[in-house]
Amino acid sequence: MNLTLKIWRQKNASDKGKMVDYAISDVSPDMSFLEMLDVLNTELISKGEEPVAFDHDCREGICGTCSLYINGEAHGPDRAITTCQLHMRKFKEGDTIYIEPFRAKAFPVIKDLVVDRSAFDRIQHAGGFISVNTSGNTQDANSIPISKHAADEAMDAATCIGCGACVASCKNSSAMLFVGAKVSQFALLPQGQVEANDRVMNMVKQMDAEGFGNCTNTGACEVECPKGISLEVIARMNREYLKASLKG
Ligand code: SF4
Ligand code: FES
Repeated sequence: MNLTLKIWRQKNASDKGKMVDYAISDVSPDMSFLEMLDVLNTELISKGEEPVAFDHDCREGICGTCSLYINGEAHGPDRAITTCQLHMRKFKEGDTIYIEPFRAKAFPVIKDLVVDRSAFDRIQHAGGFISVNTSGNTQDANSIPISKHAADEAMDAATCIGCGACVASCKNSSAMLFVGAKVSQFALLPQGQVEANDRVMNMVKQMDAEGFGNCTNTGACEVECPKGISLEVIARMNREYLKASLKG
């Protein structure tokens, strides 16, 4: 396939940035989207030009670092996949593909397609954990019975990889699907109850401090989430928040 790529180029955080056109030829439908960018970068380097900076690590849908806005959609035109799992067979000969970074006030661009998502780390640090005594007196996990339904729901919430597609897709740049997933995975389990009130209050406070917007139930986050996290986690987070607020 011969394609035209329109890619966001931005030298650094303070540069204004602009879309730049690149022609690329002989793209195999079996290539992943990131492999196609690797080919482009090899060509740019061989011509003495600056390669396009983009985030990636595992390239198998686990780490959540790949984060491209492709033709106006977070992670591109396919569903329930990350950018690294997108293949060029989704495109056709002669296509023009627009490639941009995830955009949100709380995700400032560092360079080209790389954004700073450390706001998510700070939200996690605010409460996305349980404090467990690991001194050798740890209780056997099997001694705490958990219903299959609760375990399944907690595990579904725990599949969030922190990619940020929910924020990038939301017209309000809301992080509530991400925070809802992180609150839910503990709220559904007995081990998460001890710190439940502090967790939800602190994580929501940090989310607001980072500059993420509010949820207006548009549902774009759920559609674009590569892990199929349901809007139900936002409802659960709101219930947990209300419960914690009433307890003071
Ligand atoms: S909720 Fe989905 S879209 Fe949002 S960070 Fe987690 S995996 Fe990514
Ligand atoms: S590179 Fe790890 S999820 Fe895409």
